[in-house]
Amino acid sequence: MKITVNGQDYSVTDDKPLLSVLREEIGMLSVKEGCDDATCGTCVVIAGGKLVKSCSRKASTFENQKIITTEGLSEREKDVYVEAFGETGAVQCGFCIPGMVMAGKALLDKNPDANRDDVTKGIRLDICRCTGYKKIEDAILLAGQMLQDDTDITAITAPKERIRMTDRAHRPDAAEKTLGTGLFADDIRIAGMVHAKALRSKYPRAVVNTIEIRKAQAHPDCIAVLTAGDVPENKIGHIVNDWDVMIRVGDTTRYVGDALALVATADEGKLDEILALIEVDYTELEPVTTPQDALRADAPLIHERGNVCAVEHVNRGDVRGALARSAHVVTRKFKVPWQEHAFLEPECAVAEPVQDGLRLYTSSQSVYDEQREISRMLKLAPEKVRSTATLVGGGFGGKEDMSVQHHAALMAWHTKKPVRVKFSRQESLDYHVKRHPMDMEFTVGCDADGHLTALRAVLISDTGAYASLGGPVLQRACTHAGGPYNFQNVDILGLAMHTNNPVSGAFRGFGVTQSLFAMEGCVNELAEMCGLDPWEFRYLNVVRPGDELPNGQIVDDAVGIAECLDSLKGDFYENQGAGLAIGIKNTGVGVGLVDTGRCLLSVEGGKVHIRTSAACMGQGIGSVVQHMLSETVDLTPDLIVFETPDTARTPDSGTSTGSRQTLLTGEAVRRAAEQLRDALAEVDGLDQLEGREFFSEFSPSTDPMGTSKANPVSHVAYSFGAQLVILDDKGEVAKVIAAFDVGTVVNQQAAEGQIEGGVVMGLGYALTEEFKVEGGYPKTRYGQLGLLRSNKTPEIEVRFVTSPGLVPYAYGAKGIGEICLIPTAPACAQAYYNRDGKRRYSLPLEGTHYKQVRPAKAVPPLQIQLETESMIGRSE
Ligand code: FES
Repeated sequence: MKITVNGQDYSVTDDKPLLSVLREEIGMLSVKEGCDDATCGTCVVIAGGKLVKSCSRKASTFENQKIITTEGLSEREKDVYVEAFGETGAVQCGFCIPGMVMAGKALLDKNPDANRDDVTKGIRLDICRCTGYKKIEDAILLAGQMLQDDTDITAITAPKERIRMTDRAHRPDAAEKTLGTGLFADDIRIAGMVHAKALRSKYPRAVVNTIEIRKAQAHPDCIAVLTAGDVPENKIGHIVNDWDVMIRVGDTTRYVGDALALVATADEGKLDEILALIEVDYTELEPVTTPQDALRADAPLIHERGNVCAVEHVNRGDVRGALARSAHVVTRKFKVPWQEHAFLEPECAVAEPVQDGLRLYTSSQSVYDEQREISRMLKLAPEKVRSTATLVGGGFGGKEDMSVQHHAALMAWHTKKPVRVKFSRQESLDYHVKRHPMDMEFTVGCDADGHLTALRAVLISDTGAYASLGGPVLQRACTHAGGPYNFQNVDILGLAMHTNNPVSGAFRGFGVTQSLFAMEGCVNELAEMCGLDPWEFRYLNVVRPGDELPNGQIVDDAVGIAECLDSLKGDFYENQGAGLAIGIKNTGVGVGLVDTGRCLLSVEGGKVHIRTSAACMGQGIGSVVQHMLSETVDLTPDLIVFETPDTARTPDSGTSTGSRQTLLTGEAVRRAAEQLRDALAEVDGLDQLEGREFFSEFSPSTDPMGTSKANPVSHVAYSFGAQLVILDDKGEVAKVIAAFDVGTVVNQQAAEGQIEGGVVMGLGYALTEEFKVEGGYPKTRYGQLGLLRSNKTPEIEVRFVTSPGLVPYAYGAKGIGEICLIPTAPACAQAYYNRDGKRRYSLPLEGTHYKQVRPAKAVPPLQIQLETESMIGRSE
């Protein structure tokens, strides 16, 4: 069989799906594999002039058709799309972008005058989890215009100016992501590379009596079968080492993602066949599937330490007295579900043996986390494990925990071969962490004038089988539960419970997304009881410089939540029925923990190389640090190189989490850049500094949880935001106006893109998304997640407000990655209440215009408060 790809004929012997032929036999790596059910659209190519999903049809179907991938674009088209996607800020993680380019080309080839509606429809086959689609539409429209106008791209791109902090600028990785030439982990090719895959538990909870591997070992294509006995140190974990690399014979499984054995073969297509030869004898046990059941005195213990993963208690002031004196008190129960990150790139890692150690290529949120965990697992010195980042196709918190990296490393260590481990989309959905489901009961009071007086809250999260980041997520949910409001009587009790469900961990918003859905719901009801509208009530209560947050921190001048509300005031009153909500999110890990950003600037080959391990999962840290450097030193972008995070070359800048990298690593870059600037002042040009290096780090001091200080500094900074959700006559979200205080805006278009993407993710959380788990078994495919497509996203208007002052670091820039979606769900709930008079206490919201994966059940009573209180010895 012969197929024609990008003008060249190829003979194909094995009639596999076109995607597989394109990637594995012809080497067209711009075509990405994002799912296994023709849902995501990352694999689209043009065949016979039409846009087709290459994963869903055999190569033979295309025998007489011309197939085009981004590799086959003309040089003119490549220049135009790179310029258009870079200029509009349409590129974030980049995993969906080559598919979007092909969708754009298919449209513009047929309709060069395509308008926005045409483009919106033209890309609706392709999911983007990062951008919210608006900037991708802008990019395709701009490409169309440039193609029509015969725009001279060289003239646009030739002379680059020095870029300042807020300037709109192309991201340094825009070109390689637009054309698909950048390497994700699945694009790594090493001679002799073999493939490994784990056998997972058949049951959420079962005793593993025996694991018989001899038949698998005897398979002619089997290279190795490993079990727990082959692991030097069998426990791993991001914070708590409680996660088994593989379950030992005699032990009890904790969820269906538990690995029992790991096999390797040179033929990826044989992995399942070999795994099927492993015989496991189980004694199935009843799983624990709710946090409430996990709390019962007779509940089986999921871990030896018990079923309580974490307890958090934030207690200030006199809640009982304040509530008793309040003119209005509202008590409500809320329930929020699992949410899947749904990043477009399923997890993948490649490990290869090198000398007396290993090299790992990984798609993750910190190369140093993996070096630490893998070296511990293999009982190697950390420097024996070199961890190098590939491009990361979205993370949103879901790539903080290891998923495939440790198995790739273990198999490479044993076989002495390069090993790739890759999740299918369904494996990714079933085995990686999720946003925590939570049951919450909030009691909030205010006085007759509407001043908030007190909050009592109980939050119970289902953190699933392993700790992951269950403790810190619960902590942020509790410390931020009072929102950006000026009141000081809080009693917030949080519990994170182990169950036999999939693991819950970090997810953009990190617990605050959940607790502020509850707080904002109560605020709306109190406003109504006081006779104030939601804007007035919030404006009366939000913190201003000198006030105290509910966690006791005195706010400084770098607080602009009142300004966010000011920005939306006119729109709120002009759009009767619009839903309003506000939010707060910490920048940096804080609470007394070591939190360090580091940067090494090196002058090499007449350019300045920025070295930091800060991972880019799409949020654009490369662009952020480029702006920090360029703001400090008069350098044009062509003289700046952002290096790939690599434990052998880039200093440890911690995990990309907690909205921390812009401020922490940004300040480290600024400090190193000042050294470079001073050195440049002593010489005649950059070439005279060739070989010189400038290092700096930044580690702000914060106060720990439980400090005796009356007004602790829990975090170095906070970002704030307010959103207005406007429904149309049908009850569909027509527009979201989002006003944010994120300090100094770094790269205006990139910052807007973060917010647009966050708002769309927040709309999904509010309206359409849910990850179903039944009896411990995940039940949702990618196409059933309820992800919003381009034709279902509303207009989004982003506004940045100016606070009275700025944080004295990183030129005043604060985190933007998480705050952007925190107000969205409560704002939607209020908009629908205004429409139909029904208060909604669970997500996804019931009875809206949107078709839901599964309507949320009625919120059950939260009957565990007393048991919980007695368990941790609390009494009033
Ligand atoms: Fe579209 Fe990341 S840029 S999925």
